[in-house]
Amino acid sequence: MKNSIIVGVGHYVPETVVKNSDLEDVMDTSNEWIIERTGIEERRYGKKHVETSTTMGAKAAEMAIHDAGISKEDIDFIIFATLSPDYYFPGNGVLLQRELGITNTEIGALDIRNQCSGFVYGLSIADQFVKTGMYKNVLLVGGEMHSMGLDFSTRGRNVTVIFGDGAGAVIVQPTDDKNRGILTTHLHSNGTYAEKLAFISPGAHGGYYQKYTDEELDYGFPKDVLGEVFVTQKMVDEGMLYPHMEGQFVFKNAVVKFPEVIMEAFKKSGESIENLKLLIPHQANLRISQFVQKRLGLKDEQIWNNIQKYGNTTAASIPIALSEAIQAGVVKKGDLVCLAAFGSGFTWASALIRW
Ligand code: ACO
Repeated sequence: MKNSIIVGVGHYVPETVVKNSDLEDVMDTSNEWIIERTGIEERRYGKKHVETSTTMGAKAAEMAIHDAGISKEDIDFIIFATLSPDYYFPGNGVLLQRELGITNTEIGALDIRNQCSGFVYGLSIADQFVKTGMYKNVLLVGGEMHSMGLDFSTRGRNVTVIFGDGAGAVIVQPTDDKNRGILTTHLHSNGTYAEKLAFISPGAHGGYYQKYTDEELDYGFPKDVLGEVFVTQKMVDEGMLYPHMEGQFVFKNAVVKFPEVIMEAFKKSGESIENLKLLIPHQANLRISQFVQKRLGLKDEQIWNNIQKYGNTTAASIPIALSEAIQAGVVKKGDLVCLAAFGSGFTWASALIRW
């Protein structure tokens, strides 16, 4: 079996810079609070009604395709990870295929719903398909257009200040080099905490999952109708159509699972963390990344942080950071790179790569 290797990287962040002070203008928050709790100084927002997670993903994909030295028509499989898809269905994979102008190739397109871990989950899927010889040029994209779905009133401040828009992409190919490529990937989940960080409505849940949540929530579903309604007036009026996060609970779990899944990758591969060139953690919160760095005893130059300028871009954060690190010349051939993520689900994952 061949190894699989990342041969092209790309990223795109929209032009509009939104500073913490811009958020101060619309909600009760402060630059000091945001920096102290998250490290975020600014984030990018896509151009409303023009840019989407798919269009940004397409720009990142074009850069990755160029970087890999292949043509769009060479791509034989698309994987798209996002929590902010353009449509409820169909998924962004087919929209990206259309946006890239390669519908004529009729290749498969898969959508991943694993939020912050989506890119690493996608990389593991790409790895399996390439290793088995099924595909030779997998395009993996993580893209998010959070700014279209956030609550910009004070009610949503704990979530809204964290997130930003952007996209990143990689091309995964087979290699004959047994010493390079994706060495190992590790995927985990625990659905017990599904509602702790979630965008629940609109959805087809019909209120069913109340049995798993602490509080009684009345979504305002009308009685005595055939079938069900997807969105109720109550959801609109009471701000239920936004993401919900129990920040401290997420934080406490993240700082345990990040180091755990990173060390799992080192243990499985037999590599030593002392030889790690760069850890690229999902950019959830600078305080989480600093905690992980300290726990693993990593030097500042061994961890990549860019949340300060982009916020948390969920499935896009790792490929954006990877693309930036490559552009900056930090990662070179033969370097050991670790990717790790934790987020909604809960899901968490890692990948260890010999670049
Ligand atoms: N501005 C000002 N005050 C705020 C804001 C805000 N944006 N948001 C919340 N507050 C207030 C709260 O209302 C609360 O006020 P109170 O004490 O009067 O009730 C106070 O600040 C403390 O709120 P907490 O939610 O307890 O604040 P915490 O220190 O936990 O920080 C944060 C919140 C930043 C969300 C943190 O919990 C966190 O980072 N959690 C990890 C989750 C995470 O990283 N999520 C990112 C997305 S998911 C992922 O990628 C893993």
